[in-house]
Amino acid sequence: MKILRTPRSMAAWSERLRKEGLTIGFVPTMGALHDGHRSLIRAARLRCDALVVSIFVNPTQFGPTEDLTKYPRPITHDRALCRAEGVDVCFEPTPGAMYPEGFQTVVTVPEISQRWEGQARPHHFAGVATVVTKLFGIVRPHLALFGQKDYQQAALIKRLVADLNLGVAIDVRPTIREKDGLAMSSRNRYLTPDDRRAATILYRSFQAGRQAIEAGAKTASTVERIMRKTVAQESTAHIEYLALCDPANLEPLKQVKDRTLLLGAIRIGKVRLIDNMLVKR
Ligand code: PAF
Repeated sequence: MKILRTPRSMAAWSERLRKEGLTIGFVPTMGALHDGHRSLIRAARLRCDALVVSIFVNPTQFGPTEDLTKYPRPITHDRALCRAEGVDVCFEPTPGAMYPEGFQTVVTVPEISQRWEGQARPHHFAGVATVVTKLFGIVRPHLALFGQKDYQQAALIKRLVADLNLGVAIDVRPTIREKDGLAMSSRNRYLTPDDRRAATILYRSFQAGRQAIEAGAKTASTVERIMRKTVAQESTAHIEYLALCDPANLEPLKQVKDRTLLLGAIRIGKVRLIDNMLVKR
């Protein structure tokens, strides 16, 4: 496995493979890799000739009060996981290489960025859209894979790829969960044992919401009430948002539809958890 650290060397490698007619799969990450990333890497490995994983903790998607400096960076573990999964290149640029002096371009996808995560974390999605556009320009993948856990992020990336004709196929893969339902996330490691136990409450609230829909609940307010009541069972959990929305555009719904997305963010202790569940009637 190659470790490439500069955009120039990464781009040259991709250029060479493209000339040979090989397909390039790409899994962009911020490292601290877990089984969710592993499932993306495996899916990409099956479908492409060559596979690139980027490991870059992107400073522009963190707010001033967020955990950029504390964000986990277990690079030895991450490289070992990539090697074991047959990754061809780990692209590990430095912040200076990605944002050299004079850098000023920002990519925004205004409508999708407006709500939910965008409201809770202003500038977050501009940071994501900009770095993903840059990574696509450097790696020039044929296919890139993202997890459904970050549903809004995936929707934003699909939109920007279509709007800017980036020519990258996007595959959004199912969320990988712990046995008790907690969605895998690099931030789960910050949970204390008590908070870890309580953290399943978001998933349990979606299960309650899904059951209500399956039992015939028609209005979003009824389902939301049931989800909120479930979260309230854990006194340490604080809801940031919990909503039913249209999976196509993330607009909040008043009525349950044939396809309804349950979307939520809660805080437990110092940890912020997001998750979602797509419910079909
Ligand atoms: O989902 C992530 O890990 C990040 O937001 C991404 C897509 C790698 C951009 O930094």
